[in-house]
Amino acid sequence: MTLKKMTADMKTVSAFLFCTFITINAFAADNFELPASKGNINFPHKKHQEMLKDCIKCHEHGPGKIAGLDQKWAHKVCRGCHAEMNKGPQKCSECHQGVN
Ligand code: HEC
Ligand code: HEC
Ligand code: HEC
Repeated sequence: MTLKKMTADMKTVSAFLFCTFITINAFAADNFELPASKGNINFPHKKHQEMLKDCIKCHEHGPGKIAGLDQKWAHKVCRGCHAEMNKGPQKCSECHQGVN
């Protein structure tokens, strides 16, 4: 293998790694801060993805921003599942930080 060929290969590899890195990063953050007047909610997205596997549980219309994410949706979907599974926060202050 010539030195020139090796350099070209390395460029391809690093371009590939770079793209993978960008893709993973653009996909979704590990945690989201969902804003609410009652106290913001720290939502561990990655933990839910790994734990639930099924994206549809929250992303009815496919991954990405959730249209209509509001109090009604969240209390039904988020708190609803926690109540059903008897796991995860159900009390106001467990989701809404800094509130009793
Ligand atoms: C327990 C609920 C839940 C599950 C399960 C879930 N997500 Fe999400 N996801 C959310 C919420 C809430 C947001 C924030 C939506 C918003 O801000 O409109 C979000 C946002 C996203 C975003 C947008 C990120 C951004 O920064 O714009 C992507 C992409 C995404 N989710 C992909 C997935 C994929 C893929 C899965 C399945 C492996 C998944 N989600 C599972 C609740 C969930
Ligand atoms: C389909 C079921 C399901 C849905 C939907 C769901 N969760 Fe959960 N969530 C869980 C379970 C199960 C746990 C408990 C995980 C554990 O104990 O390790 C949990 C734990 C949590 C925790 C505590 C995390 C920790 O590290 O202790 C928070 C905060 C949370 N959920 C917020 C939310 C919010 C906000 C939403 C809606 C955007 C949501 N969840 C939607 C199942 C769900
Ligand atoms: C499982 C987590 C969870 C629990 C438990 C929970 N909430 Fe929420 N709440 C949310 C989320 C998520 C939102 C929507 C945030 C958004 O719109 O981005 C929200 C929205 C709200 C809003 C609307 C805030 C605004 O700025 O529009 C109020 C008020 C509220 N919750 C009160 C309560 C009260 C009172 C309780 C207890 C009875 C409670 N919540 C329990 C997660 C939770």
